Formats: sequence, C-alpha cells, structure tokens
Amino acid sequence: MPARLHVNIDHVATIRQQRFTRYPEPLAAASIAEMAGAHGITVHLREDRRHIQDRDVRMLRETVQTLLNFEMAMTQEMQDIAVEVKAETVTLVPESREELTTEGGFDVIAHHEALAAFLPPLQAVGSRVSLFIDPDIPQIDACKRVGVDLIELSSASYCEAENAEERAKELARLREAAEYAHGLGLEVAVGHGLDYTNVEAVATIPEIVEFNIGHSIVARAIFVGLHEAVREMLRLLGHPI
Ligand code: PXP
Repeated sequence: MPARLHVNIDHVATIRQQRFTRYPEPLAAASIAEMAGAHGITVHLREDRRHIQDRDVRMLRETVQTLLNFEMAMTQEMQDIAVEVKAETVTLVPESREELTTEGGFDVIAHHEALAAFLPPLQAVGSRVSLFIDPDIPQIDACKRVGVDLIELSSASYCEAENAEERAKELARLREAAEYAHGLGLEVAVGHGLDYTNVEAVATIPEIVEFNIGHSIVARAIFVGLHEAVREMLRLLGHPI
C-alpha cells in the first residue's frame, strides 16, 4: 500500500509573516491539501514564531479533517500548548534559533531521561508522540526504550547528498534504519528536504508508511496550484490518482 502523505504548510505562513499580512491563510492551504488527498497536515510552531502562529495551530485543530501532526521543540511552553491542542500526533524535533530549518535529528540517547518525563502529559491527552531522528540504529533503540511507537527518520542527509554514490549510501542507510525500526515494532515516517526529484527512491522502502513534505510542495504550488502540487506528490508515492 502506498505511504501516507502529510503536507507541511509552514511555508504558507512564511509568506504571510514576511509582510505580516492576513494572507495567504494556512487554514485554506490545509483544506485544499486535504481535498487533494493529503492524509494529514503538519505544522511546526517554532519558538521564534517565524512562520506558524499559535492561532494557526488552534484553528487548525478545529478545522483539519484528516489528522494534525504538531511538530515542536521539547520545551515547557510547547508542552503546555500541545496538551491544550491535543493533536493526533506530536513530533518532537530539535530546534535552534539560528538554523534555517530543522538541522539534524533529535538526540534521543542524550535526552533520554528528560524525554521519559516529557512524554506522559502528551500521551495522557491522547496524542501519539513521534521522535524525529537521524537514521541511526542506536537512536532507534533509544526511541524504543523511551516508549514511543512512531519515529520520523530524517531524510536530510539523503536529500543533501552531493553525488550519486553518496545518495545511494544515504538511501541504503534510510532503508536499513526503516527495516530495523519496523522489526522493533515501530511505525516509520520520513521527512525533510524531499522533493519531486528525490522522493520516489525513498518510496520504494516498504517499511516507510508516512511522508512529511512541506517546502517543495508549497514551492511547486506557486506554479501549478496547491491542489495539483499535492496530487503530483501523491502520484510519486504510488497513489493511483
Ligand atoms: N519533518 C520534520 C520533522 C521537519 O522538521 C520538517 C521541516 O519543518 C519536515 C518534515 C518538512 O521538511 P521540508 O519542508 O523540507 O519538506
């Protein structure tokens, strides 16, 4: 069965925040993505609020028809919001203010104790917690130990590979990590940097059941419209549309 596509709409908000206008409205983007066949909507409320705002998350909670995946850093402020919003999925990501976008996966080994204390309030309100990690076996083992059942493998190294040989190596690393995690009973998502030219190879990994894709879809939407941009990505994932 083809993998699910969760569309990250952060960069619709990026365009709005650049001028502090009322448009483009991320809620409208979420609805169009869903009507095009997206299986979920992903947003990252960053500590610096550079794109998605608190009101976006709260309103998306009311309007998203599929599933809301709320990406956030492991902070008390974000935990309070997540407990209120009760998204279907909460994905914990590392965050630093200087980065252009999320750089690298969460170090679950280093933060094991803090995570073990951080997860229960989220799980208590019914959110499924996912951890965004690099495709490394020890990190996957740590995810299993800390008690999540969903992980998101970072495809950044694969997407940023500078030549075919490097790309093949990173793809093999993703495949091995996905197989290993699946073997431990973890559900496996992937994301970061995926676009219309590099996604198909990743979609050949059967253990990956969910893709989180944002920048490339929003960028393509400028030319072909968001509905068509989502459908093109769904086709590349193998959906018969
Ligand atoms: N998954 C995670 C955990 C992310 O932090 C991001 C970027 O916000 C994405 C997926 C989407 O990445 P991109 O915008 O490069 O498709």
